[in-house]
Amino acid sequence: MPSAEMLPALPSAIALQKVAERLAAKLFPGSVLCLSGDLGTGKTTFVKGLGRGLGCPTEPTSPTFSLIDEHFGGRLPLYHVDLYRLTPDQVPSLHLEAYGSGVDFPLGVLAVEWPERLPHAFPECLHLQWVGPETGTENGLEGCRLRVTAVGDRHGMLRDFLLALFPGSPNL
Ligand SMILES: Nc1ncnc2c1ncn2[C@@H]1O[C@H](COP(=O)(O)OP(=O)(O)OP(=O)(O)O)[C@@H](O)[C@H]1O
Ligand SMILES: [Mg+2]
Repeated sequence: MPSAEMLPALPSAIALQKVAERLAAKLFPGSVLCLSGDLGTGKTTFVKGLGRGLGCPTEPTSPTFSLIDEHFGGRLPLYHVDLYRLTPDQVPSLHLEAYGSGVDFPLGVLAVEWPERLPHAFPECLHLQWVGPETGTENGLEGCRLRVTAVGDRHGMLRDFLLALFPGSPNL
C-alpha cells in the first residue's frame, strides 16, 4: 500500500526547479513521474528542473499541443507527456507503453502531466500532487504543497530522497 507524505510549500518556481534538479540525479532508466495539479500549479516548471538536472540540451516546455516531447542528449532521455487535452479512451493511441519497454525507445524518464486522464495507473511510479490554494488567490502558489506517493520499491527510494531533502536544507 503506497504511503503519502507532504513536502513543505515551495516559495518560488526557482525553488521547485531546484528540487526537481536534485531529484533528476537519482532517476533511473524506467522512472515514471506522474504530476497532478490544477492548471498552472507548476508541473511543467518541475519538468524543466528535471531536464536541467538530467543535462538535456533542450529545455522542456509545455507539450499541451504536441502531447509528447522527447528530449535526448542528457544522462537519460526525458519523455514529457501532457494529457490535459485527452480523454481516457484517447490515451491508448499514444502508446505510452513504448517508453517503458526499452525496445522502441531507450529507457528513460517518463514525466506525465494530467495522469488523471490515464485509463490505467502505471504499475510503478512516483506521484507528485500539488495541493493547496487555487492559483489566483491572494497568496498565489505560495501555499501550494506537494504530496508525494510512490508505488514500487525503486520509486519509493525516489520518494524518500525527496523527503530527505527538506530537513535543514539551506539551499532551497
Ligand atoms: N512554487 C511556485 N511558486 C511560484 N510560482 C510558481 C511555482 N511553481 C510554478 N510557478 C509559476 O507558475 C506558472 C505556471 O507553471 P506551469 O506552467 O509549470 O504550470 P502547469 O502545472 O504545468 O500548468 P498546466 O496544467 O497548464 O500544464 C509559471 O509561470 C511558473 O513560473
Ligand atoms: Mg504544464
